[in-house]
Amino acid sequence: SRTVRRDADGAVTVGGLSVTALAEEFGTPAYFLDEEDFRARCRAWKDAFGPDADVFYAGKAFLSRAIVRWLAEEGLNLDVCSGGELATALDAGMPAERIALHGNNKSTEEITRAVEAGVGRIVLDSFQEIVRVAHIAERLGKRQRVQIRVTVGVEAHTHEFIATAHEDQKFGIALAGGQAAEAVRRALKLDGLELIGIHSHIGSQIFDMAGFEVSARRVVQLLAEVRDEHGVQLPEIDLGGGLGIAYTSDDDPRAPHEIAKALREIVGRECEAAGLRAPRISVEPGRAIVGPTAFTLYEVGTVKELDGLRTYVSVDGGMSDNIRTALYDAEYSVALASRTSHAEPMLSRVVGKHCESGDIVVRDAFLPSDVAPGDLLAVPATGAYCRSMASNYNHALRPPVVAVKDGAARVIVRRETEEDLLRLDVG
Ligand code: LLP
Repeated sequence: SRTVRRDADGAVTVGGLSVTALAEEFGTPAYFLDEEDFRARCRAWKDAFGPDADVFYAGKAFLSRAIVRWLAEEGLNLDVCSGGELATALDAGMPAERIALHGNNKSTEEITRAVEAGVGRIVLDSFQEIVRVAHIAERLGKRQRVQIRVTVGVEAHTHEFIATAHEDQKFGIALAGGQAAEAVRRALKLDGLELIGIHSHIGSQIFDMAGFEVSARRVVQLLAEVRDEHGVQLPEIDLGGGLGIAYTSDDDPRAPHEIAKALREIVGRECEAAGLRAPRISVEPGRAIVGPTAFTLYEVGTVKELDGLRTYVSVDGGMSDNIRTALYDAEYSVALASRTSHAEPMLSRVVGKHCESGDIVVRDAFLPSDVAPGDLLAVPATGAYCRSMASNYNHALRPPVVAVKDGAARVIVRRETEEDLLRLDVG
């Protein structure tokens, strides 16, 4: 399990506040995010990569105005992949030149808004998009800085739904068959585009550095081909995000400085072999920054003991605030948070309140056998892809995100209300 901190009464604490007090003030379910931890992780990435590289936080993991402000203050850039994320970034004051726009099917409107705002880069994902972005930029009298996203053909060892570098999927342009080289050829010809580099994102929740190394090597090889064919060296490469985190232990994998060192070494070596100058490197971590910084707090409702099988512990949320268990078979740990107990551990399954049996938050966990209605449970490491993938299934009200810092808690995303739901329902 991931370790939780407790006060003298046995209640789990965050930033010096006990979850019992937090639950009283903010209700459950709720996500509690440790702002200092978030900022420290931002700084660790920024420092690891140094001034001649850029760290783009992947907003899809979790984005809000407060997050954008913290990123801006800590010197990070921001990767957005929709009009909504772009709007949040701009509204909260992220300078446009520090924003990258991603997406395999950006709309004309999204591209137009990004170019108008002056985003630092748009990552081109298809042959059609090369032309589309160029036309929009020309029409607006601009030259848009772009990267081309390539698929390098490595099999990243992660869940099929979140692996993105093999060829048979929707993202990017394949290096294979000279397609990426052709994309570069086309992009270089268009006045509306300034091609600044090549992008590769191999997938998410990855632990093995080998995939990143192959990716870096192949991207540098493409830079060399481009130099040979066109006589220009593209100045930047982006190696994407994807570094995994530990969900059920404290053994977070590599520290950012190890990643930075490994990537620099491989890029440096390949560039030297090919006679290239070292390009400016950027990366796009999402989960590794925000994932460990938050936990979800639930209140226990019904407890159902199935003899000889396990005990089903129902909480007041579920797949609407954490779809990852149902979608990816993701593993989480859980702690009785409102008190400690010396009761016998029992094999438990923490389930939500939604109308399907796949509505599981934690598939297998040992909880004390005296867990009862009204107890609080904490599920750690829910900072990434939980609130951002939350839904209103069964007209659930999406939980708030509460930031805790220096013994003070404040809501950064408020809880939805029934009025919020009904406001959209105009029939
Ligand atoms: N850059 C690009 C282009 C991406 O597509 C992604 C994630 C990232 C960066 C950030 O990856 P990270 O460092 O967070 O692994 N919903 C899934 C994860 C989907 C990731 C999609 N792209 C999950 O809950 O595991």
